[in-house]
Amino acid sequence: MAEKKKMTVAEILAAARAADRPESAAQPAAPKEPEPASEQPAVEATAKPVLKPKPAAGGARPGVADILAMARAKKAEGDTPAAKPAAEKPAAAVAKAAVAKPAAKPAAAAGAAKTGVQRDTASILAAARAAAKPGPVAKADAPARPAPKPREAVKSTEEKAAPPRTVATLPPKPVKPAKKGADEGEDRRGFLQIAMGSAMAMGFTALSVTGGLFTLGLARFLFPNVLAEPPSKFKVGSKDGFPAGKVETKYVAQYGVWVVNGDFQGQQQVYALKTVCTHLGCTPSWLEAEQKFKCPCHGSGFYKDGINFEGPAPRPLERYAIRVADDGQLEIDKSKTFQEELGQWADPDSYVTV
Ligand code: FES
Repeated sequence: MAEKKKMTVAEILAAARAADRPESAAQPAAPKEPEPASEQPAVEATAKPVLKPKPAAGGARPGVADILAMARAKKAEGDTPAAKPAAEKPAAAVAKAAVAKPAAKPAAAAGAAKTGVQRDTASILAAARAAAKPGPVAKADAPARPAPKPREAVKSTEEKAAPPRTVATLPPKPVKPAKKGADEGEDRRGFLQIAMGSAMAMGFTALSVTGGLFTLGLARFLFPNVLAEPPSKFKVGSKDGFPAGKVETKYVAQYGVWVVNGDFQGQQQVYALKTVCTHLGCTPSWLEAEQKFKCPCHGSGFYKDGINFEGPAPRPLERYAIRVADDGQLEIDKSKTFQEELGQWADPDSYVTV
């Protein structure tokens, strides 16, 4: 009857230690690591009858290790303290629970005792560890964080919270007073602008003129001017306009020709003499008084028919071709010449009979 009396945890521990003490030297030391804390309520533990540990084989008293093994076996079988009668729970397990949970959890034990709810060892251990030190919490167990507010919502809230902006209006700028002599400065600037514009216009004009002249020079170089010579054939009028013994000199300047109505070898002819001295090419002059052609260069003299008779001229003057054209006029062709020393004056193309 004395063993069925309710025992406190201290008494259970003391009994367990007393039972273990004589055999502690012979048995291996029990593991020191604390067993999972059991939230076995102290009141319930004390309410259960303490079971004596089963005596070991041979009648020896069980040690602490045996008691713990028995308690673990009971727990493994899934027997909850409420389902099993309290009398079957070994006192050693109760003592162990009391040792694992010393005075650190008196309140929990007291609360459990008050409520009278029996929990399993795992839940008791979890509760004890959570109360002992708050460690890192698993992600799954962590409380869900409040979802961040969307940016627009934050902005809208900030805008709402921000005070309304005030647009600063600048005062109008003061009007500057008109400076003295401003008009004079403007006049000077205008004059300078006009002068500069005129100078630029003159420069551009000069540049344009220079460019035009350069273009003309280039065109002149690319297309050289040809010598404008009178046509080789020209008409001097009817042969009746040339009386006998007359030397016409009016075509000398334009055509370089004397038209003569003279006698040559007993035949009256109209012929055209070339106004080029046969010495060095000077132009002789007809001397009406002396009835001869006189070269001013070296003094050569030629008769009316063109035969040389004085001076250095080596031969007579030359004749051009002459003929009566279809219209009755005398036509002179300077492209053909006739020389007396070569007997060419006998050619009928070198004269027109009168
Ligand atoms: Fe006529 Fe010399 S060129 S005489």
